[in-house]
Amino acid sequence: MPTDFETTTIAFDEETGVGYLTLNRPDALNALSSQLREDIVAGLRELNEYNDDGVVMRTVVVEGAGGNFCAGADITEFEEGPPTTEVDRSHYRFIREYPLPVIAKIRGYCLGGGLETAMSCDFRIADTDARFGLPEVDLGIIPGAGGVQFISRLANPSVAKEIAMTGEHLPAERGAELGIFNDVHAPDELDAAVDEFAETIASKPPLSVRTIKKSATMATQTGLREGIEYDADVFETLLWTDDHKEGVRAFAEDDYEPEFQGK
Ligand code: COA
Repeated sequence: MPTDFETTTIAFDEETGVGYLTLNRPDALNALSSQLREDIVAGLRELNEYNDDGVVMRTVVVEGAGGNFCAGADITEFEEGPPTTEVDRSHYRFIREYPLPVIAKIRGYCLGGGLETAMSCDFRIADTDARFGLPEVDLGIIPGAGGVQFISRLANPSVAKEIAMTGEHLPAERGAELGIFNDVHAPDELDAAVDEFAETIASKPPLSVRTIKKSATMATQTGLREGIEYDADVFETLLWTDDHKEGVRAFAEDDYEPEFQGK
């Protein structure tokens, strides 16, 4: 059974293969304390370990308790010294390198390290009341976990400078127009929309999905030739999988829904 951590809770749906991780410091708008950063990693690790217990976990939704995603780094901890070490930032990298796709479901505030956490995920789906921004400039620092880098890639460097230099809280719809958010829904439709999206991805062949995540990461880190060579190599490997045979058979027979086993 899922364990609850001090500042995160996890849950999973065995039927759909969708796992859920909730940031659970609602009184502090889920600000990223050291404990919360640790518990994000512990929760995601435990969700992925269910794969070894025979439950095939295929995608994870990350959300915040209490109507907010996350208001950024815990500023009260700055008095003890700012989170400047790699260990302090490790949950971002852990999400980026996590084998399963991760969807950030965003309500309320999504600021600073909260936005960087969301941008470390593979997808960001928000409700129309959500507000996002990089307010670190007002503390005399900059977003320390890639905020400007991410927005420069998702939108463009000029937009990244605008958001990071002004520190303004922007409406989610602007985030979608800029390509920072994948989609925006009315507040009462967000849960269903995210579940439907997560279940769609969870129903796809897991090895293809994982490979696409790696391929898209490579696209931002390597040259085009190297990236295409990686895709071609993996393509050859996937041709020999049971899931490829299952997909081809379902297409040919056209009278049943394929079931993919990740083999
Ligand atoms: N770190 C620590 N505590 C935080 C926090 C943060 N980043 N953001 C909010 N909180 C706490 C507040 O101190 C407050 O705690 P309290 O009830 O014990 O006083 C509680 O969360 C609610 O926040 P509050 O400021 O009262 O809510 P609000 O609706 O008036 O304002 C924000 C919301 C998000 C605009 C405001 O909290 C804010 O600007 N937070 C900081 C955002 C930030 O700069 N993030 C980047 C940090 S590098």
